[in-house]
Amino acid sequence: MDDKFRKSLQFTAEIIEKSLEEILLPSPEVDKILNDAMRYSVLGGGKRLRPFLAIECSSFFDIDNEDIIKISSAIELLHVYSLVHDDLPAIDNDDLRRGKPSSHKYFDEATAILVGDGLQTLAFEILSGSFKSIEPKNQIELVNLFSNMVGNKGMVGGQAIDIRSSQDKGLSLDDLLKMYKMKTANLISFACQAGAIISNADDLRRGALRNFGDNLGLAFQITDDILDVVGDSGIIGKKTGSDLKNNKTTFLDYYDIDQSRLEINKYCDYSISSLSVFDEIPSTLVDVVNFVKEREF
Ligand code: IPE
Ligand code: IPE
Ligand code: MG
Ligand code: MG
Ligand code: MG
Repeated sequence: MDDKFRKSLQFTAEIIEKSLEEILLPSPEVDKILNDAMRYSVLGGGKRLRPFLAIECSSFFDIDNEDIIKISSAIELLHVYSLVHDDLPAIDNDDLRRGKPSSHKYFDEATAILVGDGLQTLAFEILSGSFKSIEPKNQIELVNLFSNMVGNKGMVGGQAIDIRSSQDKGLSLDDLLKMYKMKTANLISFACQAGAIISNADDLRRGALRNFGDNLGLAFQITDDILDVVGDSGIIGKKTGSDLKNNKTTFLDYYDIDQSRLEINKYCDYSISSLSVFDEIPSTLVDVVNFVKEREF
């Protein structure tokens, strides 16, 4: 990974960590064990890629910094909820996440279910709460798109298709791509569009960022499937072989690794070319696409 990119990802991760730390401060209103478990799940790990994308994609617009950090934090909370539930015995049954025991292992299953529920609700509380300079109409649109991207028509729906893919005949390539789009690309794409929505950008620019995120999200899930086979558990922070263990249909059922890399490159190229409607493409966005192409974690 390019050193400059590593530093900028790290820089954003630190800002987001601070924001999440404040959001999850212990409070007399929240059960101590639940709060500890939410903090355990959220703090001190993860690439924070979705916040990074939200922040970088908002650089096309004139946006208050605090507002986009708040939105990015809500996106990360929602993402962590999806990971905590994804690891549960009833779903992928994975014991290692972000280099430490999964939430249901460190605490227990009931607590992990509640951690996910609490994080999801908290994300909506933040997105529907107060901001410095977002017009109410744009904020409603933001919350509405978020709901669509993460609920039964989005991430949750994708997870439903994913678990079924391991129980019956598997998925066709078209259905597999549809599942990737729903379970992974939707939230990534939402992060890419957030700045455009709150600044009321025109359809052309919003569509460009949506396509950027959708294609990057597909490439991201394909690399995730590859890392599950050839990744280094010490680097990715999760055990490899999860998809095989769960008899999941993955991209590697249709393409070998070299062919998959060509498909990843194709989606990454679509992603970057979507941005041609903007006068200039920030180098960080080119760098993040290159990171997704070659990532080892
Ligand atoms: C893992 O996401 C789940 C997928 C959608 C593939 P990340 O690879 O972004 O996980 P963290 O946030 O860095 O732990
Ligand atoms: C999960 O996909 C996507 C989510 C919505 C959480 P995976 O099940 O492949 O993610 P990992 O590999 O466990 O991170
Ligand atoms: Mg899964
Ligand atoms: Mg999983
Ligand atoms: Mg995976």
